Amino acid sequence: MTNSSSPSLEHARRHSQQLSRAVVEHSGNYRVLTGDRPTGPLHLGHYFGSLAERVRLQDLGVDVVVVIADYQVITDRDSTANMRENVYGLVLDYLAAGLDPVHSTIFCHSNTPALNQLMLPFLSLVSEAELHRNPTVKAEAAAAKRPLSGLLLSYPVHQAADILCCKANVVPVGKDNLPHVELSRTIARRFNERYGEVFPLPQALLTETPELPGLDGRKMSKSYQNSIPLRLSAAATAQLIRKTPTDSQRRISYDPVARPGISALLDIAAVCLGITPQVLAAQLANYGAGRLKELVTEAVNERFAPYRARRRLLAEDPEAIRRVLAEGNQRANEQAETTLAQVRSAMGMDY
Ligand code: TRP
Repeated sequence: MTNSSSPSLEHARRHSQQLSRAVVEHSGNYRVLTGDRPTGPLHLGHYFGSLAERVRLQDLGVDVVVVIADYQVITDRDSTANMRENVYGLVLDYLAAGLDPVHSTIFCHSNTPALNQLMLPFLSLVSEAELHRNPTVKAEAAAAKRPLSGLLLSYPVHQAADILCCKANVVPVGKDNLPHVELSRTIARRFNERYGEVFPLPQALLTETPELPGLDGRKMSKSYQNSIPLRLSAAATAQLIRKTPTDSQRRISYDPVARPGISALLDIAAVCLGITPQVLAAQLANYGAGRLKELVTEAVNERFAPYRARRRLLAEDPEAIRRVLAEGNQRANEQAETTLAQVRSAMGMDY
């Protein structure tokens, strides 16, 4: 049995580099599980942080499974308003970005009963103290400024059910989410020890792309209202970027600490152009913020023109989008039912 104690970030990094090479060499041995909460349209931070990586893995031949985590939406809010629209919007974002529903599976929590049933035995394998210690739960509880719901407290266990119901062995995560993968490993290990070998231990694949700043220099995030949604029109992108406040210095330079606004614009344009922000800053040194904004607008609009065209086309056929999700739900349910049958049999509860 492997040691379940939380590995240092350095260790996780080294391990991820090895894993990354192994995935390229033996892509057929890996199943990746990732997901998003359906809380609104995906933005550039999602694209460069995770979406592009999912498509890359899929195109390498890895089995990619993506959960639309609709039950996670109600961990910290009281309403399911816009849920349907957000769920279908995510499917559109995924397909437009290049996820191919023939090779990859897109499904949602609420239509996968076997996944949700795994939550029960899994909850028995963790202590209340462990749940309270989870850094993500702590951070989210603090940010929510409201009493901790039972679902928020236990959502990492539900996330373990996402991963383990389809026996995924790789979970791409940013460093903030390493504790979730650790908990999934702990749950898998404890289950296997108690009832017999059912689950492979999932491994974290650390995403190394630096965090993309939003238009105000903070991390790009829907909740900060500093994001550029992928699906925005070219004109709306231009407008959004034009009204972004910058500083009063005349020249362009890259200095994220002293000049967060200008530097964020340089970061966004650079990632779209595939160059470094320093090189871009040097090219623009003698220009002002106005020229930089024009360049960011062009870079974003050009980079995402094919994506946006595909998304518009896909949106014309809502029935096809519904079918993609229905087929994904069915596939995920079949996998989760197989796993659940093994769980019940291992527990002697297969009457
Ligand atoms: N928690 C992730 C988010 O906030 C979404 C998610 C749900 C997820 N289940 C997952 C990510 C399983 C990785 C693995 O976006």
